[in-house]
Amino acid sequence: MLQLVYISSANPAAPCPTQDILTVSRRNNARDRITGLLYADAGRFLQALEGPEDAVEAAFARIRQDPRHRAIVMLSRRVVDRRAFGHWEMAHRAPGADAAGFLSDVQRLTAEASPEVRGTFEGLVQARALA
Ligand SMILES: Cc1cc2nc3c(=O)[nH]c(=O)nc-3n(C[C@H](O)[C@H](O)[C@H](O)COP(=O)(O)O)c2cc1C
Repeated sequence: MLQLVYISSANPAAPCPTQDILTVSRRNNARDRITGLLYADAGRFLQALEGPEDAVEAAFARIRQDPRHRAIVMLSRRVVDRRAFGHWEMAHRAPGADAAGFLSDVQRLTAEASPEVRGTFEGLVQARALA
């Protein structure tokens, strides 16, 4: 099983309807047996995708061409024995959201992930809460 983690910036020229991403991703990822976590706020995305290698590669090929984000940087790419995320979830941080509550949601969603992946999500959430 392949696990990818990337970070990207929302494209300000293409205001991002996160609800649309959520709906399509839920449908496609359930079909393709992809699990993971998408962190989204007004400016950044951080996503972990895991599942059968071909399916993850195909999903990432679509995602990386999506004009709703840019400056996509792959943070890790590795073969894993078991899933770190039981489902596919999106954690959307709305402006003014309760920072501590949001962090604890993300900690819950990354509880089974490796320390590196968990730390990457927590670090971004904490940095963005201060931004
Ligand atoms: C930040 C971001 C994350 C996305 N994550 C997923 C995803 O996990 N799965 C997915 O199928 N599409 C995802 N998409 C949408 C894809 O870029 C693409 O629009 C979609 O897969 C096309 O699906 P369709 O061919 O069924 O219309 C994401 C888009 C963005 C901007």
